[in-house]
Amino acid sequence: MTPVTVLPEAMIIRRFSISDIHSVMRVVKKSLGETYPPSLYLTMHSMWQDGFMIAEENGQITGLVAAVESEKRIARVLMLAVLPEHRGRSYGSALMRKLEDHCLAGAFHAIRLEVRKSNLSALSFYERRGFSVSGEIDNFYLNGESAYQMIKVLQS
Ligand SMILES: CC(C)(COP(=O)(O)OP(=O)(O)OC[C@H]1O[C@@H](n2cnc3c(N)ncnc32)[C@H](O)[C@@H]1OP(=O)(O)O)[C@@H](O)C(=O)NCCC(=O)NCCS
Repeated sequence: MTPVTVLPEAMIIRRFSISDIHSVMRVVKKSLGETYPPSLYLTMHSMWQDGFMIAEENGQITGLVAAVESEKRIARVLMLAVLPEHRGRSYGSALMRKLEDHCLAGAFHAIRLEVRKSNLSALSFYERRGFSVSGEIDNFYLNGESAYQMIKVLQS
């Protein structure tokens, strides 16, 4: 189990709402260097509302996690990002914890994700939260970089 993370009162984790789109796009641009169309966020939201969670502090969006149900009762994380200036303050842990809570409540069997092979800090972040490498995919990213596939099997 991912350890329970208690955030200070001003820091909250909540569901994404459609009015968050532009703030979320800014976080993704600053954190992941990517610009995706607004329709992507609407699609993820429509697929699984409990899989799309936002971190917020004093009205500012500081991070997000977006996951979908990719196979029956298997969640797949499509995005996890925290603004650089807010990293190391437990937002990433709290977002993953909330996602895991929703997966357990929905009797999901596992959470899967992909991570760039070069992203060693994210790789160890996930390993410390119970994920392990289950495979590799060559040329997974647009720039040709390969990915590790990771999985966390959930106890129900
Ligand atoms: C991976 C990521 C989401 C983690 O978010 P976060 O809010 O920093 O996560 P936390 O604060 O809960 O934990 C970060 C860990 O790094 C440590 N840390 C300390 N200072 C840090 C800092 N300035 N920046 C990042 N991590 C720091 C924390 O102590 C913690 O260590 P632990 O794993 O031993 O507990 C964030 O670094 C990020 O957005 N990275 C860029 C995008 C990315 O790589 N996403 C994942 C793609 S698959």
